[in-house]
Amino acid sequence: MGSKMLNGARSLGRIVSVTGANAILMLDSPAHGGSAATRNQPEMGTLLAIDTPSSVVLAIVSALSVPVPVTRDDEDEIWIAEISLVGELSQCAAGTLRFNRGVTTYPTLGDRVRVAASSELKTAFCGFDAESVRVGTLRQEKSIPAVIRIDDLLSKHFAILGTTGTGKSCGTALILRAILTRHPAAHIVLLDPHNEYARAFREWAEVISPRNLQFPYWLLNFEEIVEVLIGDRSRKAEAEILHELIPIAKARYGSGRHDAANRHLRRPANDPGRYTVDSPVPYRISDLIGLIDERMGRLENKRDLAPYRQLRTRIQNISSDPSYAFMFGALTVHDSMIQVLSRIFRVPVQGRPITIFELTGLPTEVVNVVVSVVCRMTFDFALWSEGQIPVMLVCEEAHRYIPAKTDYGFEPCKRAIARIAKEGRKYGASLCIVTQRPAEIDPTILSQCNTVFALRMSNERDQNIVKAAISDSASGLLGFLAALGQREAIAFGDGVPLPVRICFDELPPDCLPRSTAARFTQYWQQAYGDEELLGQIVERWRSSGSTARDATVRGSFDGTLAPDDGESDEANTAGSGLYPSGRTDNSLGANPVPVGQPSPSAYVAQSVNPVSPASAKPVTSTGSALKLLRERLKQR
Ligand SMILES: Nc1ncnc2c1ncn2[C@@H]1O[C@H](COP(=O)(O)OP(=O)(O)OP(=O)(O)O)[C@@H](O)[C@H]1O
Ligand SMILES: [Mg+2]
Repeated sequence: MGSKMLNGARSLGRIVSVTGANAILMLDSPAHGGSAATRNQPEMGTLLAIDTPSSVVLAIVSALSVPVPVTRDDEDEIWIAEISLVGELSQCAAGTLRFNRGVTTYPTLGDRVRVAASSELKTAFCGFDAESVRVGTLRQEKSIPAVIRIDDLLSKHFAILGTTGTGKSCGTALILRAILTRHPAAHIVLLDPHNEYARAFREWAEVISPRNLQFPYWLLNFEEIVEVLIGDRSRKAEAEILHELIPIAKARYGSGRHDAANRHLRRPANDPGRYTVDSPVPYRISDLIGLIDERMGRLENKRDLAPYRQLRTRIQNISSDPSYAFMFGALTVHDSMIQVLSRIFRVPVQGRPITIFELTGLPTEVVNVVVSVVCRMTFDFALWSEGQIPVMLVCEEAHRYIPAKTDYGFEPCKRAIARIAKEGRKYGASLCIVTQRPAEIDPTILSQCNTVFALRMSNERDQNIVKAAISDSASGLLGFLAALGQREAIAFGDGVPLPVRICFDELPPDCLPRSTAARFTQYWQQAYGDEELLGQIVERWRSSGSTARDATVRGSFDGTLAPDDGESDEANTAGSGLYPSGRTDNSLGANPVPVGQPSPSAYVAQSVNPVSPASAKPVTSTGSALKLLRERLKQR
């Protein structure tokens, strides 16, 4: 049997086994009409076509092998390709081809297989113009655009996975930019632990950094405020006091402001039953301290005083700590929830559909809380907007926030992200997970990501985890991940028309996320730096002063972010050299820095930084910042 011409294309071989959505193709040998060139044609990820009486079945090559290799050149050997049946082109009434995912008519034994024709690939990939956008090209045929279907991609969540340096951040920026080009009134929140994305979105982005972060403490739920004010979860007595007094403080604030407005309500405004400890309602720290004092005054047993005293001291310390000025620094408490939501979720969008939270420079425990609140609010906002304002949360370095190990990570944050993953679809809350360590991510959250862009991944454990999370019939392709080239990915799931090997488009240089890779060759060309530079490094180092277990201000923090093995730990230290950690020596914190203004140490670090990102605007000179520090120290 010679190789037939099918739809103008040469047959590669025939089907010798069909099991469910997979089949085995025996490639033609030269003796059977094939040629060496033909044999070499199918590659991992190549899309093939099989003509059946009523349709053209599309299949992707997921493995290639020679079951019994021969040792002599003149012997012939059997070459086989394992293929996954992924889609189907069927004739419509008008005579045109229509593409469907999945297969209704299965190929049978002996059916001939060929490489899919360009026109067929075009039908499969270009038939969704209204709701899809281009992110690259098919590896197999560069003229065919690789598109994503926005609604399917976002409503069922997606993940971008790959070893460090393979192009995850660029891929994320590319996908988001493609979406934003088509949908300029989007609502996207991006958690950016390496401060790299502002550059990629420029005028589209509302950048929230330690310098302009404003987050009133009363927006925190009970677990979050306990993390901030108490930290150590074993101090149950103090947490119980907070649990009892916060609703009363909220009611006091309410009664002060809304007595007149609330007269018609059956419950009086100062009834603590009006609010739960989790209600996002303002209250005053002074009221909370006043309530603690009242309780202390009523206690008869002196031994019961200890937790009240400790809590009181902690509240006072934290609320005057410059690291927490963004939470406690406002001079007056007012109900700014609408403004906070408006800024974070871009309502109205005002030309900036993406909010980037730059987290470098925030102490670990603050990052815990900020990320937790942002994730929780993303879900709640979508929920209470009743799906009218769909929002998307992009979680870079997601292994930090949703680690697989139960005792790592900040529990409320994990729960908030898991909630978006599990229920977000119903309310229009979408999740994008970006990580280089899929094996370290909570597998239940990863498995909720219906679409996966898998870039090069050499670690077998990571590959297996991704394989387990992907239900796609073409998941066999994942074994090939170690061999993918730069900018190449295998895309699976509902967000793409077919599981396919794609090549992401190249981002223009001015839209690349800022690379955090050290440029050794550039900086090692000539002698660089002197004692002055070392002085600046030491100054930055000292003024950051934060570690996960920093206990200088509030006793024992438990450093709840997942430990990092050093591969990408800039977010938790001042190591990236971009910003200092926000925590400063407590001696500088006698007067809290007003919200919206950086602490003195932040001035120093920003101004002396030799590799400031484009977004960092030095606000004052090193000299004047040092002078300010000295003056503060003298005042003590
Ligand atoms: N789509 C693209 N367009 C242009 N350049 C790209 C693209 N993808 C990757 N690159 C190049 O590869 C480099 C590394 O990409 P990127 O920073 O996205 O990797 P990463 O996977 O996010 O790494 P890390 O795990 O360290 O965050 C980029 O600096 C860029 O030069
Ligand atoms: Mg990255």
